[in-house]
Amino acid sequence: MSESAKPTTHALRRRKGGAPIVAVTAYDAVMAHYAGLAGVDIILVGDSVGNTVLGLTGTVPVTLDMMVHHSAAVVRAQPPALVVADVPFGEAHFDFRRVLMSCQRLMQEAGVDAVKIEGGRTLAPKIVRLVEAGVPVWGHIGLMPQQVKQLGRYKKFGVTDAETAALVADAQALEAAGCFALLLEMVKPEAAAIVTKAVQIPVIGIGAGADCDGQILVFTDVLGITTGYVPGFVEKFAEVGALMKQGLTEYASAVKQRTFPKR
Ligand code: KIV
Repeated sequence: MSESAKPTTHALRRRKGGAPIVAVTAYDAVMAHYAGLAGVDIILVGDSVGNTVLGLTGTVPVTLDMMVHHSAAVVRAQPPALVVADVPFGEAHFDFRRVLMSCQRLMQEAGVDAVKIEGGRTLAPKIVRLVEAGVPVWGHIGLMPQQVKQLGRYKKFGVTDAETAALVADAQALEAAGCFALLLEMVKPEAAAIVTKAVQIPVIGIGAGADCDGQILVFTDVLGITTGYVPGFVEKFAEVGALMKQGLTEYASAVKQRTFPKR
């Protein structure tokens, strides 16, 4: 696939309110290859790599080195999609120089097109400077899994009027800071619709209802290969896990019965 088929952040911005934007996570070259074949617009190398494929407890233990390693593998598959990497736990809260250096590693060493940063309006001044430096930023509000230890649990946002107003304020501050899109996670659908209308940049939802400008899901959840917890809002679009089990069981049995190899 040619690099030219990749949508730019500007092209995605123009999709606001139009054809829904399709995003999915991927963590290696094989996943990126298949996501590319499916014609998704955005591949997110999410820090969910921690709990989905690395056997970690969540996203908090995921380091910048891990993100660079997995992002580079995704980029090497040359998928015709915008490749975005998560800025992992803690990094966005250091001084600007260190944040820029983290984004620099993701863009120069791994080769991603943009970064995603969890955080609301308090991060806006840093995002202004990142955008000035040439780093396209996808904002992430609502449930921010990197906050889970301090939140105590994964929970839905936009449940009260005050929470919805706070989400709108965060969304508008991130838009003004120059984010090309927002990710809204685990937000009550009515509140997600209000946030989506309140900004001119695309809002991509996960567990945030049908009124966002696009949707994102985790690769392993879409295909039914998640081994741990799967959130209730997820829809499984294939039973790849069952197929993998069947193929591997048949292989094991062929070796045991000496029917493979043939000679
Ligand atoms: O890391 C991740 O998978 C995410 C999801 C919200 C898509 O950020």
